[in-house]
Amino acid sequence: MTTTHHFDLLIIGSGTAGLTLALKMADKARVAVLSKSQLEEGASLYAQGGISVVLDKADSLQSHIDDTLRAGGGLCDEDVVRFTVEHARESVEWLIEQGVSFTRDDMTTETYHLTQEGGHSHRRVIHSADATGRAVETTLLDKAKAHPNISLFPYHIGIDLITAHKHLATEENSCLGCYVLDIKKDQPKTFLAPVTVLATGGAGKVYLYTSNPDVSTGDGIAMGWRAGCRIANMEFIQFHPTCLFHPKAKSFLISEALRGEGATLKLADGTRFMPAFHPQAELAPRDIVARAIDHEMKRLGQDCVYLDISHQSKEFITTHFPTIYKRCLKFGVDMAKEPIPVVPAAHYTCGGVMTDMRGRTDIDGLYAIGETAHTGLHGANRMASNSLLECLVFADAAARDILNRPKITMPDDIPHWDESRVHPAKEAVAISHNWDELRRFMWDYVGIVRSTQRLNRARQRLYLLQQEIDEFYSQHHISNDLLELRNLADVAELIIESALQRKESRGLHYTLDYPETSDITASNSIIAGKKPT
Ligand code: FAD
Ligand code: SIN
Repeated sequence: MTTTHHFDLLIIGSGTAGLTLALKMADKARVAVLSKSQLEEGASLYAQGGISVVLDKADSLQSHIDDTLRAGGGLCDEDVVRFTVEHARESVEWLIEQGVSFTRDDMTTETYHLTQEGGHSHRRVIHSADATGRAVETTLLDKAKAHPNISLFPYHIGIDLITAHKHLATEENSCLGCYVLDIKKDQPKTFLAPVTVLATGGAGKVYLYTSNPDVSTGDGIAMGWRAGCRIANMEFIQFHPTCLFHPKAKSFLISEALRGEGATLKLADGTRFMPAFHPQAELAPRDIVARAIDHEMKRLGQDCVYLDISHQSKEFITTHFPTIYKRCLKFGVDMAKEPIPVVPAAHYTCGGVMTDMRGRTDIDGLYAIGETAHTGLHGANRMASNSLLECLVFADAAARDILNRPKITMPDDIPHWDESRVHPAKEAVAISHNWDELRRFMWDYVGIVRSTQRLNRARQRLYLLQQEIDEFYSQHHISNDLLELRNLADVAELIIESALQRKESRGLHYTLDYPETSDITASNSIIAGKKPT
């Protein structure tokens, strides 16, 4: 017997976006929140630098707007940028009301310490030392656990959205919920709700080297696309310039806030190189810094470059960057005394499921918020610390919209997940091999510097992989790894096709065949939703 759950609101994802929405809805609705891993796991938990918000008297909303537009390379939606920036202060105040503790200037003052990051022309990043995401995520999760109207489902992975179009063969499309795999019980379930929200985070795991946690496999983008949503700007994958370079230091980020506090980038011989690439040097927008590092590493045949903050005192470093200090020390690097070896890695998915300013997607009853969504805020390159802000602002906007929706009666003839024609897989090697292969060719051919030939190579390899994945999927019981692999392949297709569509270099998309930015093509790359099969 398949279990069916009924809720007023189904949120897929328990990061900052999903939990903010759940808390804002819970007094008025019965809410289910799914997480495919432990509840706190997700990019939100690892966010370091902070949240951008105009708090300093010398700063202004217009300056935050201008910086975001400049970083976005001509592709931000100005209305969305203004809306987000104007709602930043109330979003941060809401977090403080929930109990998030932000770092103050010193123990005795009421003023919050603001740090600076790439692209920002003022200090405007509020933070909890260098573990802002942990402070936000754990505070929101504790609140959600305590709310009687919120049901949390850890280790439940969304498989595919249930739509009226596909599952009831209606003309009008609407979302009715999601088929879900209970990972611990290895059992498919049906979750039904008049409103479903994709809050599944980004897709950094599509690349071999990434700052993202294992759960960032682009599931919501892939599910939304398969259900018929348009997907925008997937070529704009942000590579963070500075991740710790050490064979055993899996995905560890060295926050841009170090550069905000004066850290410089150097080659192995100690030469500083960023001033030759941009007037803002180490605080240039991320795409420029990552490309400069990539260029220097390739030119010199070196495995990494170095980030040096040793001009600051040990006390300053251990107060502002306690997590990073400890982690580097664990790998034998004392950042108070010596430079940190760093490399760029895939960090943020600027594109995603297209939404309006209320989080609505193309499908009635389906919303997308957080890194999964494309709201128009980031354009061709996200400015540092604008992402947690987007999670907060758009979760709030979606909550207001969902609360105003008319009540609907759910159909009672929705089919259960059908497992009658599949059998258990005898071995998992095909899945793990394809995972590795996909992430490696995405890194080699669809990385920081692209070309049409490299993109076509990736497309050919992907085509073969997709055939194998589809065959495997149609014949075998589903598993977490298989579902993620299928989603990663869809996301890879979206990135490659969007990159091939863009016949110019702009923001995070740089191709050797079209190295210039063309004013004529200052438009989003949009891929139509898939037709139901
Ligand atoms: P996430 O926090 O990634 O949460 C996604 C959730 O969805 C998880 O609960 C996951 O289990 C769940 N999920 C995924 N797929 C499924 C599925 N199929 N079924 C069920 N559940 C699913 N941004 C900033 O603004 N400031 C920073 O300082 C900053 N630092 C960062 C540092 C690091 C190391 C990283 C990786 C990112 C950083 N970012 C930062 C970006 C920011 O953290 C993320 O964009 C943001 O946290 C995304 O939040 P989210 O709620 O959209 O997704
Ligand atoms: C960082 O701390 O460098 C990450 C900030 C971000 O991704 O916004």
